[in-house]
Amino acid sequence: EDHPLQRSRADHGTADAPLLARYRGVATDAPPSVWFMRQAGRSLPEYRKLREGTTMLDSCLIPEMAAEITVQPVRRHRVDAGIFFSDIVVPMRLAGLEVEIKPGVGPVFARPVRTEADVDALPVLDDSFEEALEPIRQAVRLTVTELGSTPLIGFAGAPFTVASYLVEGAPSRDHLAARALMRSRPEVWERLATWVAEASGRFLRAQVLAGASAVQQFDSWAGSLSEQTYRAGALPYSRALFEHVADLPVPRVHFGVGAAHLLTPMHEAGATVMGVDHRITLTEAARILPAGTPLQGNIDPAVLFTDEAVRFAEADAVLASGAAASGHVVNLGHGVPPETDPQVLTDLVAYLHEQTAAACSA
Ligand code: CP3
Repeated sequence: EDHPLQRSRADHGTADAPLLARYRGVATDAPPSVWFMRQAGRSLPEYRKLREGTTMLDSCLIPEMAAEITVQPVRRHRVDAGIFFSDIVVPMRLAGLEVEIKPGVGPVFARPVRTEADVDALPVLDDSFEEALEPIRQAVRLTVTELGSTPLIGFAGAPFTVASYLVEGAPSRDHLAARALMRSRPEVWERLATWVAEASGRFLRAQVLAGASAVQQFDSWAGSLSEQTYRAGALPYSRALFEHVADLPVPRVHFGVGAAHLLTPMHEAGATVMGVDHRITLTEAARILPAGTPLQGNIDPAVLFTDEAVRFAEADAVLASGAAASGHVVNLGHGVPPETDPQVLTDLVAYLHEQTAAACSA
């Protein structure tokens, strides 16, 4: 590829990263590649110390702090990628919505968006939004310089998951208000989800243009939808989000929780790699998806709280199962729980890196 981005990234040495080869389905005999969703954050004492006195969302907008937090787990655990430290609601904050992340709860919006009038009142995403993204670009530039040859993964929340928070105003167990709006006022839902996809898509594109080597779309709540409802009310907006980076030479990972029944439509939304949670085996996922789809996953986070023997057996099983895919990047089935002993993660990475590529595929 001769996209100018490719050249600038090669300067940092990420062009030869085995993780990116696996995301592209290119065979490599390097040891297994691994990173962890939510590898940055509360499981790390150095994170808690740095964050002291700064709110979660403020820390995302201080470039030096966001960069340092992103690099901390790479330094400590020797994982094969950084995941940009930010949050799925950061673009909403940058667009001007009032949102906080309540510790132990999650994102809380001051004014839920439920009616046509609420949607009319959403901020216009004009040039001032591009300017507001500047701390994100700066944080990414600092991070990729610091990471050197280790790739940085950029991310955004899927419109369905982010819009659920907007409609509910706060985390909810079954996203009833969001799912009800989708079905009772589809035209209002469409305008809301389109707005979210635009804001999140530009947030994602800014990360790639500033140096991220791959992207992941997180659809944490997609699993609450049937395939039919997903296709009608979520897929078009997830596709619109991915389209913001479709012209750039970066792998596009799509991850959902409890979404085994949605692997095919989530892939159709424009993903080049599928993230898989621990409720389905990688072998099964590979059977469902088109041949040649690289996979990411899916160690059950529960084994972070077991004896090492159980944990390493799970790692072996995931590598063996992932061999069914043409390209496998190891991850957890969902994020690192805050109460995880960081040494457990460091040892798990070391164990995975001791395995030969023969144990996994491409
Ligand atoms: O290592 C990483 O993955 C860092 C980047 C990251 C964060 N949030 C940082 C964060 C990413 C990729 C996210 C995505 C995110 N945020 C998702 C999708 C992934 C998933 O886990 O399902 C969702 C649903 C959110 C919304 C959100 N933000 C929740 C539910 C929470 C947890 C609230 C809590 O205290 O339990 C947050 C806060 C958050 N985002 C933290 C971090 C490190 C914790 C903030 C703190 O230190 O208190």
